[in-house]
Amino acid sequence: MSTSSPELFVELDRSRPRGLRAQLERNLRDAIRAGRLRPGVRLPSSRTLAADLRITRGVVVAAYHQLTAEGYLTSRQGWGTVVNAITTPREPRSRHPRPDGVRHDFRPGAPDVGLFPHAAWARATRTAMRSLPDQALGYGDPAGLPALRETLADYLGRVRGVSCGPDDIVVCNGFSHGLSLLARVLASRGVAVEDPGHPSWREQLGAGCHPVEVDDEGLRVDRLAASGAGAVLVTPAHQYPTGVVLSAGRRIDLLDWARTSDAYVIEDDYDAEYRYDGHPVGALQGIAPDHVIHVGSLSKSLAPGLRLGWLVVPPALRDEVVAARAHGDGFTASIIQATVAEFVARGDLDRHLRRTRREYRLRRDALIAALRRLLPGSRATGISAGLHVLVRLPEGTDAPRLAATAARHGILVRPLDRYRFGSTRERPAALVLGYSRLTPHRIEEGIHRLATIVSGAVPSGTSGRPA
Ligand SMILES: Cc1ncc(COP(=O)(O)O)c(C=O)c1O
Repeated sequence: MSTSSPELFVELDRSRPRGLRAQLERNLRDAIRAGRLRPGVRLPSSRTLAADLRITRGVVVAAYHQLTAEGYLTSRQGWGTVVNAITTPREPRSRHPRPDGVRHDFRPGAPDVGLFPHAAWARATRTAMRSLPDQALGYGDPAGLPALRETLADYLGRVRGVSCGPDDIVVCNGFSHGLSLLARVLASRGVAVEDPGHPSWREQLGAGCHPVEVDDEGLRVDRLAASGAGAVLVTPAHQYPTGVVLSAGRRIDLLDWARTSDAYVIEDDYDAEYRYDGHPVGALQGIAPDHVIHVGSLSKSLAPGLRLGWLVVPPALRDEVVAARAHGDGFTASIIQATVAEFVARGDLDRHLRRTRREYRLRRDALIAALRRLLPGSRATGISAGLHVLVRLPEGTDAPRLAATAARHGILVRPLDRYRFGSTRERPAALVLGYSRLTPHRIEEGIHRLATIVSGAVPSGTSGRPA
């Protein structure tokens, strides 16, 4: 039991000293009823509260007695006075806040944070806090905590075939933050991006970005030269959002392009740990460390809320990237860095990945089976990996309209059009479906509802075959 007494906010009108007990009672009763004091919360001892409020202890004891008699409070032996669960039960706050009325959230992007390993994380935090030197709580190294960079260098070499040492790593606050640093450093070069690709990244890169088409083998590397870009952002292990892998031939061509034009490849390795039909392809960085900037993040593998990612930077760019970090927001919170270092070093990330890989695989299988059974005109494409799937729809389906109609029925889906540059005419109708946040049962239910909407969205006279 903690011996310290908790703080409590109480407002008393001292111009009416004779009504202090009633005021204190009313304050506490109202706070409990309104849920500001939640069930289980421990109140300060009568002695402490009396001292804090500068009133006699007897007033507090009397108020506590009264509220205990009314059932608002309980006195627990050795623990003190605790708020009872007498408030009107309120909906527990969801771990994944959803817009009102949403029943099935198939938006891609986030993992199931309900699977977050709280106990392992708490252990890692405790250990990290015990060993964290005082100076780590001061202004830190913009490149990141040395202990985390050491651990990440081992992890990335072991799990992704990345060739790096701790000095090649710059810790950042997730992929999007890493990209903003690179955008500054590579601004004069122009950056090519995949089309379709992540809409936020192209917004972030702004006018200096050049769309390059993606087909069934990934990025059309043969179109890079014509783009005039001096860098390219790719998702080679699992293209976002089409789900294809950059073919072996294109990997070679891409690295040749980078070497011959002295360009950089920005490798977004966002979900490579999730491959369900075998081993993921190794990172491109491992083959050409001087020309590939490898970027990773814990957003898919653990939780986006951690805001933790890393850049593995070629030596020629390192100083500029570190300077961009130093002149921007400085560095990543050292307690988070130290906890992640501990979490990864003790094997908790590996364990979490093994567990969630099993779970997401079941969800993906459920989605594919539901699509086959309930949406016969559809076809899932891409490899068995990640947390989303691209689903081609029957010819003639207006995917954006379908998504809008589905949203009105509480089903959130993303049309492929959202990920494309320029004109979407003559392009296949498709949805990008995320399956990570729904159980297999909910997936089946959602696809069933979606199928009903699709059947109303396919114009008559079309073949119903996938485009
Ligand atoms: C293609 C892609 N890359 C990277 C990320 C990770 O972004 P961040 O680390 O900024 O959360 C995401 C997350 O949705 C993504 O979809």
